[in-house]
Amino acid sequence: MLEIDASGRLRHLIGLEHLPRERILALLDRADALRAASRDGTRPLDTLRGRTVVNLFFEPSTRTRTSFDLAAQRLGAHVVNFDIASSSTVKGESLLDTVHTLEAMRCDAFVVRHKESGTPEYIARHLRSNAAVLNAGDGNRAHPTQGLLDALTLRRHAGDPASLCVTICGDIRHSRVARSDVHAFAALGVREIRLCAPPELAPAPSEFPQCRLFDDFDAAIAGADVVVMLRLQKERMQAAAIPSEAEYFARYGLSAERLRRAQPQCVVMHPGPINRGVEIASDVADGERSLILEQVANGVFVRMAVLAELLGVDARSA
Ligand code: NCD
Repeated sequence: MLEIDASGRLRHLIGLEHLPRERILALLDRADALRAASRDGTRPLDTLRGRTVVNLFFEPSTRTRTSFDLAAQRLGAHVVNFDIASSSTVKGESLLDTVHTLEAMRCDAFVVRHKESGTPEYIARHLRSNAAVLNAGDGNRAHPTQGLLDALTLRRHAGDPASLCVTICGDIRHSRVARSDVHAFAALGVREIRLCAPPELAPAPSEFPQCRLFDDFDAAIAGADVVVMLRLQKERMQAAAIPSEAEYFARYGLSAERLRRAQPQCVVMHPGPINRGVEIASDVADGERSLILEQVANGVFVRMAVLAELLGVDARSA
């Protein structure tokens, strides 16, 4: 398999769907161990000293890119934040020629974000070195480290997964986050996963056999223990698939009033970037039940865990 080699070592992180449950849980445990070892990120480690990680982001990013950057640095690696706009990509250099050029300079890992689904896998299949590829979001397909960090956040703050009902609401059809979250939450053993979207942004039911699908948010949020809100990913829509932002908020936005339909202790998550007043009200995003910034903090430890797993000492000796 592309992601796990014959000796069982993790070679790349492309998606979560091929990872056995125990491996997903082990990565979350490793994230917790690195949180402790790095004293919450304040003590630098040297697990990846001498290694080079390249951030190859062909789509905008605030959280994911910074988080990979900090994760690699806090493990002692060098980081190259490849600047697409000022690179030879704009002169027509192909993606693979760019990657092979960076490989020739002895880069050990490529963190790839691209609007085309399948790009990280394509790169991984055409590498000429032992480098690892980490998917930082490809089209609407997968965002595995977001799935892992959301699972870590849920495990830390929402109680026993086996008793949890999680509602994911928004533009499910275009959401790589929803796809990776479903795999990660299922690996945790979450009791019930509900997906809620307007009909025009709903996924094909056959894609999510393990979830309950809703188009009525009031019904989908009733009794939920965790609500994950998603952005309208307009850049991935063909045309304006939704009426107006105000109308969208009225039907699918998370207001304090709507949150009262969930369990009293229900926590709120969102991968960011948030659009205040479109999918989430400001008072909810900033409220005491919001885990949004906690997710951001957990993201660094999850990415440290994945990088250490792919490039650390165990990986080197293998
Ligand atoms: C998401 C992404 O880019 O997939 N953001 C993130 O990585 N935290 C979600 C989004 O763009 O809406």
